[in-house]
Amino acid sequence: MNAITLTVNGRRVSSLVEPRTHLADFLREHLDLTGTHLGCEQGVCGACTVLIDGKPQRSCIASAAACDGADVRTIEGFDGDPVMGELREAFSVHHALQCGFCTPGMLISSRDIVLRLGESSERTVREELSGNLCRCTGYVGIVNAVCAVSAGKAPAGDAAVADVAAVAAATPAAPSTAAAKPAVQAPAAASVGAGGSEIRQSLSVDAPPEAVWPALKDMNLIASCLPGAEVLAFDGERLKGRMVVTFGPIKAAFGGDATVRFDEAARTGLVVGSGRDSGSGSRAHGEIAFAVKPGAAGGSDIDLALRYRISGPLAQFSRGALVQNLVSHLTALFAANLAARLKGEAPVAASGGLSVMAVLAALVKGWFGRLRGG
Ligand code: FES
Ligand code: FES
Repeated sequence: MNAITLTVNGRRVSSLVEPRTHLADFLREHLDLTGTHLGCEQGVCGACTVLIDGKPQRSCIASAAACDGADVRTIEGFDGDPVMGELREAFSVHHALQCGFCTPGMLISSRDIVLRLGESSERTVREELSGNLCRCTGYVGIVNAVCAVSAGKAPAGDAAVADVAAVAAATPAAPSTAAAKPAVQAPAAASVGAGGSEIRQSLSVDAPPEAVWPALKDMNLIASCLPGAEVLAFDGERLKGRMVVTFGPIKAAFGGDATVRFDEAARTGLVVGSGRDSGSGSRAHGEIAFAVKPGAAGGSDIDLALRYRISGPLAQFSRGALVQNLVSHLTALFAANLAARLKGEAPVAASGGLSVMAVLAALVKGWFGRLRGG
C-alpha cells in the first residue's frame, strides 16, 4: 500500500492506496466523487477527465500513487468558477447533453479550451475536443456551446502561468548528476510534474562503453538513430529539436527545447525538455535519464528511465501500454541504429516520421507470428 496526500477540490486528503489504484477509482470509491465518470478505462474516451495541477488529464490511466502531492480538481470542484458557470448554462441552452455521461469530462476539457485559447472557431473546438467522445453523438450542441462561451474572450494568460507554476512546484528533485551542476537550471515548463508516467528500459549495444559513451553525447548522431528526430541547435547544454510522429491520419510535429547534462565519471546523463505540436496544440513534457555500463561479451548496456506527460488532444495516445510498446520498439531500433553507426555503417532505418500505427501493426503481426509458431 502507498500512503498519499493530495489536494482534491481544495481539500487536503490523505489515504492508503494500492499501487494499482487509478485516480478515477480513488476519487469515486474513496472520496465518493462520482461525477468523474468511467467509460473506456483505457484513456480513450475522456469521460474521466479531471484537472491535475491545473491540466486536463485522464484519471483512469493516472495512478493515485503517482498523484501524491498533486492538486486535483473534479467536476464537483467548480462551484463559483465563472467560466464553468457559463459553460453549464450554454450546455443547457444548446442542448449539449443527452444522457450526460460524457458531460463532466466535456465540461472540464471545454473550460480548458476557453481559458487557454480564448475565442475559438468551430474547427478549433472540434479538434481540441477530439479526445472527448460522446456516445450520444451530441457534438453539434457541445461545439456550439463552447464556441458561444469562448466568443469575445482572450486567452487567460494568468491562469496558464499559474498552471505552469503549480507544475513546477510539484517537480521532484533532479538526480544527483544534475544537482552537481547547480548553474544549469531546467526550464520550469519542462517539468513532468505529478500525473506523469514512467517507463524503464534497458538496451544492449554491440560496442564497448568507451565507444558508446561519446556517441551518446553526440546529439546529431543520436537523432540520426531515432526516426523522426531532428536536432536544430545544440550548444553542449541547451538543445532545440523536433520530433515528427504520425498517429494514423494525424501527424504531430513536436518542436521544443531541452537541457542536457552529462556526468563523465558515472557515465550518466539527463535530458529534461518540453515540446508542443503546433497543429493540435498538444504539449509533451519529458525527462530521460540514462546510464551506460559494461554489458555481456564486451558490449554495453544502456539503462533508460523515461518520465513523460502529454496533455491536449493527443493525450489519448499517452496511455501506458501503447507508449510502453512504442518505447520498446524505439529502443530496439535505436540500439540497432547506434550499433550500425558505431561501425561506420548507415542506420538500419532511414530517418522519417515515426508512425505509431506502423509500430502497432508490426507488434500485432509479431504476436500473431508467435501464436502461429507456438
Ligand atoms: S474512462 Fe475513458 S479515458 Fe478514462
Ligand atoms: S451526452 Fe451521452 S455520452 Fe455524451
